[in-house]
Amino acid sequence: MAGRSAVGFLLAAALLGFLQTASSFQVKDPEGKLCLSANFSMRFTVEFDTNSTKKQNATFLLPPDAHVLKVSTCGNQKSPEEILVVGFGKGHSLNMTFEKKDESLYVISALGFKFNLSDSSFFTNSSGGELTTTTKVTDIQADLNTKYLCHSNKSITAEKVSVLLSNIAIEAYVTNNTLSKKETICSEDKSSTVKVGQYSVNGSSGMCLLASMGLQLNLTYPAKNKTVLSKVLNIPPNAVSSGTCGNITVTLNVISGSTNISLNFAQNSSTEKYFLHGILVRADLPSEAAERSINVSNNNLSALKATIGKSYKCVAEEIIQVSDNASLNIYNVQVQAFKISGYKFGAVEECQLDENNMLIPIVVGAALAGLVLIVLIAYLIGRKRSHAGYQTI
Ligand SMILES: *[C@@H]1O[C@H](CO)[C@@H](O)[C@H](O)[C@H]1NC(C)=O
Ligand SMILES: *[C@@H]1O[C@H](CO)[C@@H](O)[C@H](O)[C@H]1NC(C)=O
Ligand SMILES: *[C@@H]1O[C@H](CO)[C@@H](O)[C@H](O)[C@H]1NC(C)=O
Ligand SMILES: *[C@@H]1O[C@H](CO)[C@@H](O)[C@H](O)[C@H]1NC(C)=O
Ligand SMILES: *[C@@H]1O[C@H](CO)[C@@H](O)[C@H](O)[C@H]1NC(C)=O
Ligand SMILES: *[C@@H]1O[C@H](CO)[C@@H](O)[C@H](O)[C@H]1NC(C)=O
Ligand SMILES: *[C@@H]1O[C@H](CO)[C@@H](O)[C@H](O)[C@H]1NC(C)=O
Ligand SMILES: *[C@@H]1O[C@H](CO)[C@@H](O)[C@H](O)[C@H]1NC(C)=O
Ligand SMILES: *[C@@H]1O[C@H](CO)[C@@H](O)[C@H](O)[C@H]1NC(C)=O
Ligand SMILES: *[C@@H]1O[C@H](CO)[C@@H](O)[C@H](O)[C@H]1NC(C)=O
Ligand SMILES: *[C@@H]1O[C@H](CO)[C@@H](O)[C@H](O)[C@H]1NC(C)=O
Ligand SMILES: *[C@@H]1O[C@H](CO)[C@@H](O)[C@H](O)[C@H]1NC(C)=O
Repeated sequence: MAGRSAVGFLLAAALLGFLQTASSFQVKDPEGKLCLSANFSMRFTVEFDTNSTKKQNATFLLPPDAHVLKVSTCGNQKSPEEILVVGFGKGHSLNMTFEKKDESLYVISALGFKFNLSDSSFFTNSSGGELTTTTKVTDIQADLNTKYLCHSNKSITAEKVSVLLSNIAIEAYVTNNTLSKKETICSEDKSSTVKVGQYSVNGSSGMCLLASMGLQLNLTYPAKNKTVLSKVLNIPPNAVSSGTCGNITVTLNVISGSTNISLNFAQNSSTEKYFLHGILVRADLPSEAAERSINVSNNNLSALKATIGKSYKCVAEEIIQVSDNASLNIYNVQVQAFKISGYKFGAVEECQLDENNMLIPIVVGAALAGLVLIVLIAYLIGRKRSHAGYQTI
């Protein structure tokens, strides 16, 4: 029994390890200085021809024998792009081309694949040959001198090849032979790692605040050696909340460990609107910071605004600047302050960002409807004409 569960555990661990471990690749310049470090796992789906007339898809992971090929290059003045070329198995390879953009970003500007379709270990019953393809479309980009990090799955397709990238940690244009401590987090991770918490505040005459939102603090601070560092804190959904109900302000305090976020809502009785007008943030900083803690506030805001009696809703991320070195990122928010009937949200007022996102499908839909109409009219006219044609015969 114990033996079987141990085997099961090992199998599960091996399987998980196989799926999750990222391969690690480094490119160095002729002097031996690191210019590019890339870690990722990759799953390929490749469509190929078989000896019968049917096409088939092969799906496999980037195998452990994957290694950097010598043709990889660091950028230089003549050709500033950096190219990682990885070989694996029996004559397969992939390449990633990095370029600088706008002096402040680096991007993967091309992704190429070459497969030896004669390799029956990946391509069973293949009719052989070679498949090469490249795509110039990737959304992988990061600030210079930062690591690009993305745990979420990212799918990229180039004709007959599609890949699923995950556990990505990449830095190109590495300076001074050392990887940066700063990070650029991909948007997929930002929205998925912040968990939504439920908050409410009750007063003597009932509930005055109800909120459902994911909260994240983004702090930048000087280290003891004066370099500027940043830290992103996700507020867990089980954070302790409290607050007060006033006639002109409603306050929500969210406390998680040594971190304290206070949100102040105000109302404007002449316009019948309420809004977030103040934020106070207090948080301890890591030991390498020059200061022990950060304590900032902003009482000049006009965010999350909605009509009294209704709720404000936004799926898109909202970044609210508290000070030069602190911002509060709010995800997937629905909030209502002051008048709340029946302990639940009133009618929804959607944020502008979401409305803009809604606009795209509406415009596309309208354009399609227009197209259908034009085709229909053209068809009817065409039919009338050809009828006329037959009659003259
Ligand atoms: C192979 O996979 C792609 C993408 O998933 C799909 O579009 C295609 O139809 C598949 N081809 C075959 C032969 O199954
Ligand atoms: C392609 O795979 C076949 C079969 O495994 C092998 O004989 C051949 O050498 C490979 N081609 C290259 C270029 O590696
Ligand atoms: C990358 O790979 C593709 C496909 O094999 C190839 O066409 C392209 O020339 C390669 N690019 C570089 C820069 O090596
Ligand atoms: C390969 O072809 C053989 C013979 O046609 C067939 O029996 C077998 O199922 C095929 N294998 C795959 C993976 O399609
Ligand atoms: C498919 O056909 C090619 C060329 O005709 C041949 O080399 C290969 O061995 C065949 N593969 C299978 C699985 O029959
Ligand atoms: C990522 O893809 C793998 C393999 O398809 C899958 O098992 C896993 O659930 C995916 N993860 C997420 C977060 O979608
Ligand atoms: C990639 O992995 C190696 C080995 O685990 C590590 O030393 C390196 O810092 C990683 N690179 C990035 C960009 O995170
Ligand atoms: C580069 O690295 C060296 C040794 O690690 C260090 O002494 C130097 O201060 C670094 N220079 C910069 C600009 O970070
Ligand atoms: C406020 O009252 C409602 C209804 O009784 C209750 O569901 C909610 O948990 C209360 N909130 C707090 C913070 O006590
Ligand atoms: C945190 O703030 C810095 C500086 O404003 C910014 O570059 C970075 O993208 C922010 N990160 C997140 C996760 O919001
Ligand atoms: C708040 O409003 C209520 C009802 O309008 C009123 O009775 C109360 O005195 C007000 N409290 C304050 C502090 O203004
Ligand atoms: C400054 O200190 C931070 C935190 O200890 C460290 O990550 C960073 O590399 C240091 N920078 C320099 C230039 O020494």
